[in-house]
Amino acid sequence: MSIRFLLDQIRRLPVVRRQLRSLEKKRQRRQIAASPDPKTAFTIIYRENVWGSRESISGNGSTLASTEAFRAEFAALLGELGVRSILDAPCGDFNWMRLVALPSGTRYIGADIVDEIITRCRARHASPEREFVVLDIIRDDHPTADLWLCRDALIHLSNADALSALTRFVGSGTKFCLITTRPDVARNRDIPTGLTRPVNLTAAPFLLPPPRRMLSDRPVRERPRMLGLWTRQEVAAALGRAPRS
Ligand SMILES: C[S@@+](CC[C@H](N)C(=O)[O-])C[C@H]1O[C@@H](n2cnc3c(N)ncnc32)[C@H](O)[C@@H]1O
Repeated sequence: MSIRFLLDQIRRLPVVRRQLRSLEKKRQRRQIAASPDPKTAFTIIYRENVWGSRESISGNGSTLASTEAFRAEFAALLGELGVRSILDAPCGDFNWMRLVALPSGTRYIGADIVDEIITRCRARHASPEREFVVLDIIRDDHPTADLWLCRDALIHLSNADALSALTRFVGSGTKFCLITTRPDVARNRDIPTGLTRPVNLTAAPFLLPPPRRMLSDRPVRERPRMLGLWTRQEVAAALGRAPRS
């Protein structure tokens, strides 16, 4: 029996496989946390499929099964608010959004910081009403729309970067934002951008008022969360900034 064969057999043992997977996750986390900027961090996450879903590069929370209930509530809210244009930033791979029936004539802008994600979305999903752009929600000006959808994104940003993204929204002409939030979280831990933690937007350092509407989001095998709806004026007041009129 050769040494190589023996090593191979050892690597296949469930306990050893678990240990190797855990070491690999730690290596990825260190590499992401040490990234020089958010684009590098999220490009690593994309290329190595760090969030680990076979269906969506945006992770388990973005599969069709995970978003089934949310998709229905979201489509109903668009009708209620009379939304005619959406900035979906970040859009990730557009896996679940492709099944949302937007009212005819609605302009959709999908944006993400990872160039390769946007190239792929353009090739597969672009249409006259659907545009995909590379955009950093932290550092770039946001295009104006009726609604900024920001699902499962601020949970991956440091508190300072999440505050910058909200400030960019305040500086845009967009009326509403619909953002992932976890009202049950008492304290917003800080993280290096690229890692993950839950965010409660009504707690410090964000201190947004209670959302005017909440949609429930119940991904499979993950903690349930909500998407809160706020106006630009409400976010501006919480951040102590004058909204663009
Ligand atoms: C967990 S996925 C969620 C994607 C999508 N909202 C969804 O619900 O499927 C997070 C996405 O945020 C993107 N992202 C992270 N930081 C960003 C930033 N500063 N600007 C734009 N996109 C960003 C990542 O590349 C990734 O595609």
